[in-house]
Amino acid sequence: MNSCKKSFILLYILSIGISTSYAQQQSIPQKVQALLNKMTLAEKIGQLNQYNGDWEATGPVSTDVGNKLDAVKRGEVGSILNIVGVKHTRVFQEAAMKSRLKIPLLFGQDVIHGYSVTFPIPLAEAASWDMAAIEKSARIAATEAAAGGVHWTFAPMVDIARDPRWGRVMEGAGEDPYLGSLIATARVHGFQGKGLGNLDAVMACAKHFTAYGAAIGGRDYNSVDMSIRTLWEIYLPPFKAALDAGAATFMNSFNDLNGTPATANHYLQQNILKDKWGFKGFVVSDWGSIGEMINHGYVNDNYEAAEAAINAGNDMDMESRSYINNLAKLVAYKKVSVTRIDEAVGRILTKKFELRLFDDPYRFCNAEREKRVLNTPEHVEAARDIARKSIVLLKNEHQVLPLSKNLNTIALIGPLVKSKKEMKGFWAQNVGNEDEVVSLYEGMQQAAGKTKLLYAKGCDITDTSRTDFNEAYKTAMQADVIVMAMGERFDMTGEAKSRSNIHLPGVQEELIKAVVASGKPVIVLLMAGRPMVFNWTADHAPAILYTWWLGNQAGNAIADVLYGKYNPAAKLPITFPRAEGQIPIYYNHLNTGRPAKSDTDVFYTSAYTDLPNSPRFAFGYGLSYTTFKYSNLHLSKKSMLKSEDVTVSFDLQNTGKYAGEEVAQFYLRDLVSQPLRPVKELKGFEKVMLQPGETKSVSFTIDKEKLAFYNDELERITQPGTFRLMIGGASDNIQLQDDFELTN
Ligand code: NOJ
Repeated sequence: MNSCKKSFILLYILSIGISTSYAQQQSIPQKVQALLNKMTLAEKIGQLNQYNGDWEATGPVSTDVGNKLDAVKRGEVGSILNIVGVKHTRVFQEAAMKSRLKIPLLFGQDVIHGYSVTFPIPLAEAASWDMAAIEKSARIAATEAAAGGVHWTFAPMVDIARDPRWGRVMEGAGEDPYLGSLIATARVHGFQGKGLGNLDAVMACAKHFTAYGAAIGGRDYNSVDMSIRTLWEIYLPPFKAALDAGAATFMNSFNDLNGTPATANHYLQQNILKDKWGFKGFVVSDWGSIGEMINHGYVNDNYEAAEAAINAGNDMDMESRSYINNLAKLVAYKKVSVTRIDEAVGRILTKKFELRLFDDPYRFCNAEREKRVLNTPEHVEAARDIARKSIVLLKNEHQVLPLSKNLNTIALIGPLVKSKKEMKGFWAQNVGNEDEVVSLYEGMQQAAGKTKLLYAKGCDITDTSRTDFNEAYKTAMQADVIVMAMGERFDMTGEAKSRSNIHLPGVQEELIKAVVASGKPVIVLLMAGRPMVFNWTADHAPAILYTWWLGNQAGNAIADVLYGKYNPAAKLPITFPRAEGQIPIYYNHLNTGRPAKSDTDVFYTSAYTDLPNSPRFAFGYGLSYTTFKYSNLHLSKKSMLKSEDVTVSFDLQNTGKYAGEEVAQFYLRDLVSQPLRPVKELKGFEKVMLQPGETKSVSFTIDKEKLAFYNDELERITQPGTFRLMIGGASDNIQLQDDFELTN
């Protein structure tokens, strides 16, 4: 080789080295820009396009794209949802590596309450009021999902829900913006762990932006009509919390808000989310929500739909095919700018770089890791722990619970005693094996020791046959104690599962009546995705545990609570109505000009003549096997300036026989205000563990932010005046209260 050739090769090698290390040194924005510079318009539009992988459709599937792998190879797809398992994701990622620019795909999935190990439904977890446990549940779900090839979960759903008719109430954290915001933070932290790029982190997606939970009549996908102030006070805070916690993505929603579909809502997506809040991630549409704007009557066709969505700030199109089929034309006709396309693509590429998919597109496709990480004993134990923490003790007359280990016979009665599918509930992945679910029957078999267990189904979940009541009664008569497992079928609450009748389904309440007639102690377990109506049971059953849908460890967790191995401490994150006619019913309402003085006061007051105003079970309610006493309220001062804080302290004592935790709740009311403020707003809580007889001092700090609210101009303000602070174990069980002044 002559010296000229040698030095050329040397130079070439050096230049590769320099350019490689230069590329490595580039910041992500520089890398994104460099890639954008290379992309054709068609390739850019491909990045904005998300297809369903047909593995498990969660919406109507269109069949007009031909072979999706070929579309990926042509660079027409930026993301796929509903493909899980490294075997499957690898196939699609290999196709992406055959595209001209080899831009890796993002794999998204609804990992709502666990991936392989199913955890309690989100509403149940919210009842734990335990942020560490909630974060851990999301952490484990993310660890498993990432090991299964998933990059992105469509969770958390942070929609406030004041309407238990709405089927998706199960997916959120209930009705309160303060509690909802803390839970949104915990879940985002859990999913994203130490940050994107780690092999156990998935991107979170705060959804559905926004006000989806306020669908009129509780009917899924319905319109939302609300004041902008309510939007800011109640519905937006959990989204802001998710954003502050670093949520990588947002999803918009199916509903229209005051006449504009959320998907084309410039005010929500551009003005609030991107401009005011400075969101740096990307917004994905909900499934087909761009195309559905034709049904809304907002646009004529998919061409107009794509234009409306992209110009309002929606970056990625989930399964509408509106972008892939129309954006090029829209750019050609100058209806959509290339700058806007670049911005949307840039946001998506940024996340792909942050996930380090450009370093190695297969880094989430490791079969050995998948096998090792899923279903570990540690994950199973954590699922049991949060399941116990989610169980709400609604009633416990004559201390029927906890059960003694010395009982001769327990009868397990009801349609859900042996159920597994119902324990998993809606939005449970099919990744795990149903055999891994512990039914109540199995959990009790493990826990009951020498006690004999009898079983009778009694009736089906929704059927109206009473044929087996007699056998159930006879079984009950042979037992010392009866545990009844009643509730909803797994698909009665969830997406598109709104119900106008939320009573305990079928003839189940009649079966409870028949069994209670045995005169034996009856403990009713209510297993459901939403608050149900069960007035007869609430009045007559001696003990009731609301166990929701608790996931894989349901049976063990319930047995732990029944036997007192775990003392229940959960509190309702949502109001339970007496009847559907009370809905929407929530604790943080305004007072009206004619407030009822009591539940029976109907004379010219804001009340029903046929029903008390109060709910069946209030927000924040939940009992323990022990009792607690609140005393010695002390305020560091009785008046404060805006620049100051007031510290509120009090003593909390365990006055019962069992060690237990109390969620001490702290509410505030602005007594005179323009505009009006609610009768009560949760502003703090603490979950305190106390041994029998033990007392601990608990304190909360009141600062300006806790007293602030939005005025009609949407400015966050405080007004001088008197505030009432209230402390207790539920929103309707205030034990301590005092007033203080804000003086400027
Ligand atoms: C529609 C649901 O509204 C949304 O929450 C979900 O993430 C998508 N389908 C994808 O399954």
